[in-house]
Amino acid sequence: MPLVNLNSVLEPAFKNQYAIGAFNVINSDMLQAIIAASEKKKSPVIINIAEVHFPFCDLEIMTTAIKKAAEKAAIPVVLHLDHGLSFDTVVRAINLGFTSVMFDGSTLDYDENVKQTKEIVKMCHAAGIPVEAELGAVGGEEGGGLFGSSNPALYTNTNQAVDYVKQTNVDALAVAIGNSHGKYKGEPKLDFDRLEEIKNVTNIPLVLHGGSGIPDSDIRKAIAIGISKINFYTGMSGVAIETLKEEVKITGLNYNELPEILQKVKNNIQKVVEHQIDVFSNGKSVKY
Ligand code: 13P
Repeated sequence: MPLVNLNSVLEPAFKNQYAIGAFNVINSDMLQAIIAASEKKKSPVIINIAEVHFPFCDLEIMTTAIKKAAEKAAIPVVLHLDHGLSFDTVVRAINLGFTSVMFDGSTLDYDENVKQTKEIVKMCHAAGIPVEAELGAVGGEEGGGLFGSSNPALYTNTNQAVDYVKQTNVDALAVAIGNSHGKYKGEPKLDFDRLEEIKNVTNIPLVLHGGSGIPDSDIRKAIAIGISKINFYTGMSGVAIETLKEEVKITGLNYNELPEILQKVKNNIQKVVEHQIDVFSNGKSVKY
């Protein structure tokens, strides 16, 4: 089916307490693995492309491939700009046919974040595209760095969250509650009380970035409180690297074996995504 927009998959998730996985891609192998896992689990899926990954994938080619994969898929697919950093990037995404946008103004001061997000929302809504934004700052590097940690001083402020949602009219809010991009330094400790407060005062779908490395039980708890979208990347890049390392040990990586090795990488990414979808769907996701 053609790409669908973010709200069409997030609204049922928000009402029925499950989350949709938003998986970042940097190439078509990852894309195929994610789509195959989502079809197997009969779950809608969000395909993310993060602005930090633009230098590593040709956007015109990737977005064409994603649209084609969505058309062939038996499940709804959203094409989402992850951590768009400027007005120009968001315009580019709209022109390329993205059906969802995240604007990340988390490095700006509060008033500037509100001002820029408001402008982005106005433009995107005029084009029929929902907007996610971030308040506070999720730790780590969006492209999946090593040893990410979050700064409690930058956690989402509940009072600001009410004002931010009201002023900007965003469709979904990414929260900073101890979550961090990339590989966690130690065990992540999510501030569930804060999450609950934010959920109660905002009443819109909340987004958890840094999904890799959070124990399944904590993910389930966060979903029960009000997380409706979970971003996930490092768990896939990690298994890809581990598979390659394993293959080097076994075969010494002979160059005639590249197709088989890449196939193994793809299969292992698919298994990781299948597991995450099982956790995210909380036994409730609509089955297609
Ligand atoms: P992880 O790489 O930690 O899974 O986070 C991905 C993410 O939040 C992308 O926005």
